[in-house]
Amino acid sequence: MQKPAARKTVPWWEKGVIYQIYPRSFSDSNADGIGDLEGVIQKLDYLNDGSERSLGIDAIWLSPIFPSPMADFGYDVSDYCNIHPLFGDLDVFDRLVAEAHHRTIKVILDFVPNHTSDLHPWFVESRSSRTNPKRDWYIWRDAKADGSLPNNWGSAFGGPAWEWDEVSAQYYLHTFLKEQPDLNWRNPQVKKAMLDVLRFWLEHGVDGFRMDVVGMILKDPELRDNPVLKDDLDPANPDGPYYQQLHVHDQDLDEVHALIRDFRSLLDEYPERCGIGEVWYELPRWIKYYGSRGDELHLPFNFRLMKVPWDAGAIRESVDEMEQALPDFAWPNYVLNNHDSPRLISRVGDEQARVAAMLLLTLRGTPTLYCGEELGMENGVISQDQMQDPQGFRLGISYSRDLSRTPMQWTDGHNAGFSSAQPWLPLTPGYQSKNVAVEDRDPTSMLTLYRRLLHLRKQRPALHSGSYTSVAVESSDCYVFERSQAGEQYLIALNFSHEHQKLRIPGWTGGKLLLSTYLDAAAVFGKNTLDLRADEGVIIEIKHNHVTRQDG
Ligand code: GLC
Ligand code: CA
Repeated sequence: MQKPAARKTVPWWEKGVIYQIYPRSFSDSNADGIGDLEGVIQKLDYLNDGSERSLGIDAIWLSPIFPSPMADFGYDVSDYCNIHPLFGDLDVFDRLVAEAHHRTIKVILDFVPNHTSDLHPWFVESRSSRTNPKRDWYIWRDAKADGSLPNNWGSAFGGPAWEWDEVSAQYYLHTFLKEQPDLNWRNPQVKKAMLDVLRFWLEHGVDGFRMDVVGMILKDPELRDNPVLKDDLDPANPDGPYYQQLHVHDQDLDEVHALIRDFRSLLDEYPERCGIGEVWYELPRWIKYYGSRGDELHLPFNFRLMKVPWDAGAIRESVDEMEQALPDFAWPNYVLNNHDSPRLISRVGDEQARVAAMLLLTLRGTPTLYCGEELGMENGVISQDQMQDPQGFRLGISYSRDLSRTPMQWTDGHNAGFSSAQPWLPLTPGYQSKNVAVEDRDPTSMLTLYRRLLHLRKQRPALHSGSYTSVAVESSDCYVFERSQAGEQYLIALNFSHEHQKLRIPGWTGGKLLLSTYLDAAAVFGKNTLDLRADEGVIIEIKHNHVTRQDG
């Protein structure tokens, strides 16, 4: 199959690479064990100083930095238009934006529209009495006549989605923690207040938003029960109703798209602002978040590569299926890691993580990296008494997102150079060899590989904006595809196995090796064969279009 190259003027979010910073864990400037915005400023040169010595990313997305009681580490916002003192203040934030822009780094904020903190003044007012003017800003319901819950909806963090409020004698809805009451987006005042929040940050110069669980913000007005699945979807969590239901009435309602179009219209009032969304649905529902005319999100996160088995055929199928389904105006994107999921490297191993890096940075679509991925950082080792994540507390240690939130590894010294104080989560074992300082000096390190890939992608337009064609090969352990644009053509061949592979690529007459995941020049290729070592990926420049296309 073949998909078209991008449009003439390519916006930054299609050309560029996004880097997610989990601010608590990135860099601590004031010795309290928690990362902060000053810490981010100090590391901007690492991210992009314009030279090939730096990583070379184009945008940072900061997980929430707003005032918050931190019940869900910032995803419980108590003031949308300010900065948590742990992280800094508005002046530091403005300086961060200026310093980032100075280095051509865009700044993306996390927007949390589904719920506020229970300590947000809006909710404090709302819960104060049934007649409070903000009562309807949240979703309140009486108990059923028999005293039971308003409906069968579950919380994503376990247990029912309803919490009883003694004072006003009603239940309120919370799709996540009880400290995260859901806003009522059917109330026009809520919508206005939240659009004002977006405008506030746009005026501070931010370049876009990552919108948290944006498909969930509208609920069925009648609050009908969700259909219950017969078979338990998640055996590790046998009594969580959330994981035993089809979410037909509490998420992904058709009506949500009108709201997303409103977000987009607001973004479009400013030049080159990008809307990204956390959208987990199956392909046909997920695609709708681009909008039927490309008038919704620029990039609904595509999490498929995090979920498919690490297998050449399965991954190729996932990519091809998505490429085929996307309308021409919709630009793809890929994610391998984030703050909610275990790190990919801990699933696939060090060798395959290098293949994964090449995959992510050569596919047609915007890659989002997660801090530490470029170092080969692994899942943390968290004991019960070190656990911080509320999801881990409620659903069990294997669900703890602390695993992927351990401190960034800057050096092999004290606290990995993250902080001079005790970090809020323990360091991941092995940081003495996997860290920026050590890997910076090592010409074959993971960091060097990410840098080479990022710079190559930047320098070769076909690698960021070119068309994508998957190429048929005999070996089921390899995934081969081609990127091309205006006379430039590259073949990317990835070996997903730990064995040597000999590939026959019909019609191919050879080319020039640009990069191997081994970071050497030993790859062997003849007229129409290509030898890949165990766990090797290569990028080859082709002079003429001789690659056989596989249609469909
Ligand atoms: C999203 C965030 C996650 C958070 C949840 C509730 O899934 O990525 O970290 O806990 O929303 O806001
Ligand atoms: Ca700090």
